[in-house]
Amino acid sequence: MSGDCYSRSDDYSGCEMGIIGLFVLFFLHLLKGIDVELIEIRNIVKKYFIGEPNELTVLRGLNIDIKEGEFVSIVGQSGSGKSTLMNILGALDRPTEGDYSLDNIPLAGMTDNELSDIRNKKIGFVFQTFNLIPRTSALSNVELPMFYKGINKRRRSERAKELMKLVEMDDRMDHMPNELSGGQKQRVAIARALANDPAIILADEPTGALDSKTGKLVMDIFLKINKEEGRTVILITHNEGLAVRTQRIITLSDGEIISDKLT
Ligand SMILES: Nc1ncnc2c1ncn2[C@@H]1O[C@H](COP(=O)(O)OP(=O)(O)O)[C@@H](O)[C@H]1O
Ligand SMILES: [Mg+2]
Repeated sequence: MSGDCYSRSDDYSGCEMGIIGLFVLFFLHLLKGIDVELIEIRNIVKKYFIGEPNELTVLRGLNIDIKEGEFVSIVGQSGSGKSTLMNILGALDRPTEGDYSLDNIPLAGMTDNELSDIRNKKIGFVFQTFNLIPRTSALSNVELPMFYKGINKRRRSERAKELMKLVEMDDRMDHMPNELSGGQKQRVAIARALANDPAIILADEPTGALDSKTGKLVMDIFLKINKEEGRTVILITHNEGLAVRTQRIITLSDGEIISDKLT
């Protein structure tokens, strides 16, 4: 038998094919490993210039890799640079130095319009203060990003309803934001962040304005969208109790990463 590598020394073809096959698989595996790195930041420095000589260095050479499907929390005391980092990860702001690749696309040198395009396609934001549009129903709030993307009314409405169901708000679709509790508003905001099917959800202190019980329920929703949809979630928080429920905790202190650990 030509496929047997050991018993016959005069016929290597099957054996060689097997070895070549293994090499091909190995290289494919390597390529896949490169592909799934969703976020890659290298030596990111952020300085604010609040009038010479008042240069303030807020991020001091950060390196972070985040893979598709990870649920990562970024923790640290107030003023440690979490929101500054989030703004850079979300392409809302540019680093002073360093490189950022998002889904294998280097962002350096992009125009503001190109950055905003990438942001709309790849990132869903959730903020501490919900930022829902007042006097507009919960469902319409979720539809809005799809409206801007030019998706037709029927498809928008269908998708928004699915998302309201996912965040367990399908019984409150016609409510106005001021008729919802904080936790309910945040669940609508999460549905809205998912509207355009982003690769990454970036949430900056999403439970910061909620009591701890409601905060836990909102956290359950993030865990659900990470687990059930495989969505990459980056959660910024100063609540250690919430951070330990994610897969990985990156701790910032005074603009530096002081630890990066799996939970
Ligand atoms: N636009 C800005 N201009 C000047 N300084 C800023 C600006 N934004 C944030 N900072 C400063 O950067 C530091 C980090 O802020 P921030 O990233 O908001 O921290 P965190 O989110 O961890 O509380 C703080 O000292 C803050 O005062
Ligand atoms: Mg902050």
